[in-house]
Amino acid sequence: MADPHALELRDRFRRRFGGTGERVFFAPGRVNLIGEHVDYHGGAVLPVAVERGVFVAARIRQDSRVLVASEDCPETFDGDVSAIDSWSADSWCRYPLAALNATAEQGPLTRGVELLFSGDLPMGAGLASSAAVLVATALAMDRLHQRRQSAQELAELAHRAETQFVGVRCGIMDHYAVALGRAGHAVMVDCKNRQWEAVPWDVSGPEMVVFDSLDRRQLTDGRYNQRVAESHRAFVKLKMRLAHRTWLSEVTAEELEEQSESLSEVERRRARHVVTEVERVARTRAALARGEWQVVGDCLARSHQSLAEDYEVSTDRLDFLAEVAKSHAGAYGARLTGAGFGGCVLALADSDLAEALIHGVSDMFRGAYGDTPRVWRLGASAGPRELAEDHREDDPGRKAVS
Ligand code: GLA
Repeated sequence: MADPHALELRDRFRRRFGGTGERVFFAPGRVNLIGEHVDYHGGAVLPVAVERGVFVAARIRQDSRVLVASEDCPETFDGDVSAIDSWSADSWCRYPLAALNATAEQGPLTRGVELLFSGDLPMGAGLASSAAVLVATALAMDRLHQRRQSAQELAELAHRAETQFVGVRCGIMDHYAVALGRAGHAVMVDCKNRQWEAVPWDVSGPEMVVFDSLDRRQLTDGRYNQRVAESHRAFVKLKMRLAHRTWLSEVTAEELEEQSESLSEVERRRARHVVTEVERVARTRAALARGEWQVVGDCLARSHQSLAEDYEVSTDRLDFLAEVAKSHAGAYGARLTGAGFGGCVLALADSDLAEALIHGVSDMFRGAYGDTPRVWRLGASAGPRELAEDHREDDPGRKAVS
């Protein structure tokens, strides 16, 4: 277990809970390259798992007590396994408990567990920290109880946990990206039929530079669910005239134009974002295969504009970062990544120009807001895995999760 983060977590676990015998698991975060707010409309998305993520040290107990704690958050949980489904306090612990509840649906949990989390992924920043906690917990429970689910089954379990037990009406993108990540690849997920494919990311191509606006949001604060509701309402109206369409992502730009009278101004814009984003994902996918990074960059910039103007999920800081990064000579394009309402901007830059981009954008941001954005240079990394004693760097948990 060469990873210093994991080693430290193991030590802290032993100090907190005593004894030995814990196992350590890791689930990555993700950056969404493109395909924003289309997963819950059956669209395709193109996220990338990254090397930062969530670690959990886990051990089954002999009794039925469940103990949950984190190195990064003060709130803890201490209760009986039979009572976890009625617990709903406003704390990050809802996420691991939701994963335990979803695990229990598949077969009752009679014994308790100790879970200690830690991570190097910012929370609430649009990099799927929630999905990483859910998948890490699901993987730990799966391995501790020898249930042997596939990576896709773990993704589905994590999605059920978030929708049914946390109450966010999110799509499947984050759970699939986190659970199915593969080094050197993006993950193309067709959210309509839940099929996925690993898409090679040319190693000589640009890297992902992620700027954190330092604005935070929680999907549970209601604005995410509001966008979901508005765009679903638009589709319910469209469907009255387009009976052959089963998802908003299937509606074409021409159909939307023809039917736009039936929608309110807000519904029209929400639907337009989804319909045009679906086209941008297809264009990006094709451009990735040909290494046409200028085209990818152009799609990113258009995606940001659509998210800002039509879906209205951007903020001043995200607009600023996206605009400054996009205009910098070192970047192919930039856009907010994740749900929005705060969080991060993704820019694509060739490695030799990335540092100049980071300095240029950070200086401008400091000038405008007085804050220095946190910045990460990220590559496409492996999916979730158990960190075995002497190696963490081995390839994706392909061994552990397949
Ligand atoms: C969050 C949700 C995802 C997706 C994105 C926006 O990350 O969890 O399901 O809807 O927002 O694309």
